[in-house]
This record gives sequence, structure tokens and C-alpha cells, in this order.
Amino acid sequence: MSTNSAAFTSTSPYVTAQLAVRLGASLSAGDTLLLEGDIGAGKSHFARALIQSRLAEPEDVPSPTFTLVQVYDLPECELWHADLYRLNDPDQVVELGLLDAFETAICIIEWPDRLDDLAPADALTIRLDDPDQSDMRNITFEWQNPAWTKRVTEALP
Ligand SMILES: Nc1ncnc2c1ncn2[C@@H]1O[C@H](COP(=O)(O)OP(=O)(O)OP(=O)(O)O)[C@@H](O)[C@H]1O
Ligand SMILES: [Mg+2]
Repeated sequence: MSTNSAAFTSTSPYVTAQLAVRLGASLSAGDTLLLEGDIGAGKSHFARALIQSRLAEPEDVPSPTFTLVQVYDLPECELWHADLYRLNDPDQVVELGLLDAFETAICIIEWPDRLDDLAPADALTIRLDDPDQSDMRNITFEWQNPAWTKRVTEALP
């Protein structure tokens, strides 16, 4: 499969959140988003906006920095939000139940480099870069599964 890509420049946290909400509307069980980017790039901000838009009842969306995963019950399926920054052994991915979740849930993964080769091949990778310490973020999408093409295109403004 060939790699497809798209790029977008967000000018504010609000613009990033709107993008997350639009993309989030297209997600269903078995979809995984891999959120890359340095500390403070906006991974949790993106995840929080997406998750809140899919919850039936509003609830807090804390960063799963210490718990590693936070599971939400959406009306349709579970949504797993993981922050793997503190994961030091890929075996933990199995212990956390993430491999099963990749099949059965919507998964949003921060610091997906910690997965090594356990990341699903059909995931959508979203990279946020903060080039100049302002509110601007360069957001890059990469995917191999052609099912993402329409969804990414429609989520972009
Ligand atoms: N255009 C933008 N898009 C997203 N976030 C932005 C933007 N401009 C400023 N920000 C701010 O950048 C911060 C990003 O913090 P966030 O916790 O989402 O980072 P993170 O990538 O999850 O970091 P960590 O690796 O520590 O988990 C937020 O305070 C957010 O408001
Ligand atoms: Mg984060």
C-alpha cells in the first residue's frame, strides 16, 4: 500500500478543535488515530475536543498521563484514549488490552512511537508541529488505508 498525506496549518486551539470534531464524526469501531508531536504540540487538545464531541453526556477528559489509558463509553462503542509517553516496554501494550481495543474500539494514541511495530497498519497518523511557539500548528496526516482519504479530505476546512 502506498502512503497518502495531507497537510494543514491551524492558527489557534479553536481551529484545531474544530478539525478534531469534524474528523471525529467519521470514526467508528476499529479506527485508530496515532497522534505524534512534541510535548505541548496539542495532541491532548485535539483528543479532548474529539472525545467531548462524541460523548452522549459531557464529562471531563483528563490527559491519561499517569493512567496510560482512559476508556469512554460512547453510544456506539468504546473509545480508548492512551498517552504512552511513560510506557517503557511494548509488552505493556498487550497488558493494557490495547491490541484488542484496536479491533473493537475507537483508539486515540499519543506518543505512538512507544508501540514499536504494534501500531495498526491501517491507522491514521496525525502529526502536530509547533514551529515558532505561537498558536500556529502545522498538522500533517499520513495514511495507507484508502478508507481515510475521503474522511481526511472532508475534515479539512
Ligand atoms: N493551534 C493550536 N492547536 C492546538 N493547541 C494549541 C494551538 N495553539 C496553542 N495551543 C495550546 O497548546 C497546548 C497543547 O497542550 P497539549 O496538552 O494538548 O499538548 P500535548 O501534545 O498533549 O503534550 P504532551 O506530550 O505533554 O501530552 C494547549 O494549551 C493548547 O491550548
Ligand atoms: Mg498530551
